[in-house]
Amino acid sequence: MGKAKKGLQKNKKTSSDRSKNPGKLKSALPKLKKAKSQAIKPQQQQHKIIIPFESEHRVLLVGEGDFSFSRSLLEHHAITHIYATCFDTRSGVLSKYPQAATHLKVIEAQDSSQVEYGVDATKLGRAGGGGGGKEVRKGGWDRIVFNFPHVGGLTKDVNRQVRANQELLVAFFKSALALLSPNGQIVMTVFEGDPYELWNVRDLARHAGLKVNRSFRFEASVYPGYKHARTLGNIDGGGGWKGENRPARTYLFESKDNEQLNTPGKGRRGPDDSDSD
Ligand SMILES: C[S@@+](CC[C@H](N)C(=O)[O-])C[C@H]1O[C@@H](n2cnc3c(N)ncnc32)[C@H](O)[C@@H]1O
Repeated sequence: MGKAKKGLQKNKKTSSDRSKNPGKLKSALPKLKKAKSQAIKPQQQQHKIIIPFESEHRVLLVGEGDFSFSRSLLEHHAITHIYATCFDTRSGVLSKYPQAATHLKVIEAQDSSQVEYGVDATKLGRAGGGGGGKEVRKGGWDRIVFNFPHVGGLTKDVNRQVRANQELLVAFFKSALALLSPNGQIVMTVFEGDPYELWNVRDLARHAGLKVNRSFRFEASVYPGYKHARTLGNIDGGGGWKGENRPARTYLFESKDNEQLNTPGKGRRGPDDSDSD
């Protein structure tokens, strides 16, 4: 992790630090500033629909919550080669997200799709525990998807929490990169705003040998049935916080070594795709 660690937690400032000392923000967070000014460009006010999946893709999903995203890919995007995994055990998933039972049934009924539990996204492909079975190790994945990665609420200290998430991402990027097909891409969606922007997702990916092919606004409505799952599980009574309705961004990462073979966002697109940055 030596090299990668240098890139971790580049921005130690929290929102409150910044409001106290706005002058320092410029040098501390140049990327964030750029992202904000781009967000108000008139041509980006329309939401562009980009779907980075093709029906023939072999898709590995890691860090699934209640498996509603995997099910949606299968039912609404005709992707049949789905290998859906989560960090939890099967009983853990069912007790945290009882609705997962029906999603899992649909996925498991599809011959060319599979579900695996206890897969650590930071150890993908590593033999001898946690990194997924033979099928994961086989590699050649067209897409490896990690939606809303998060280690869970480990601490109230923002910096430590940011760092833990950064470590998750770097280790995931490194392990996933080795398992991509030659033109394969990692698909990662992250909420916009703090503290997520403190993660510096793009820099972390660069440290892990990846480059951004494109990024675009995540539209949950494109994935009918998808409900954002919180790491800790469902909230009693549903809770008012609906992650799938919050602004989020999807990043498509590919190997730095790829030549520009991929036209940007090789996947299916809506009529207007200038929302990428
Ligand atoms: C905020 S939830 C998002 C769940 C789901 N991807 C979604 O979009 O609804 C974060 C997920 O990251 C998973 N996660 C955290 N650390 C992980 C790891 N090392 N390997 C795989 N998944 C991990 C958690 O188990 C949890 O399911």
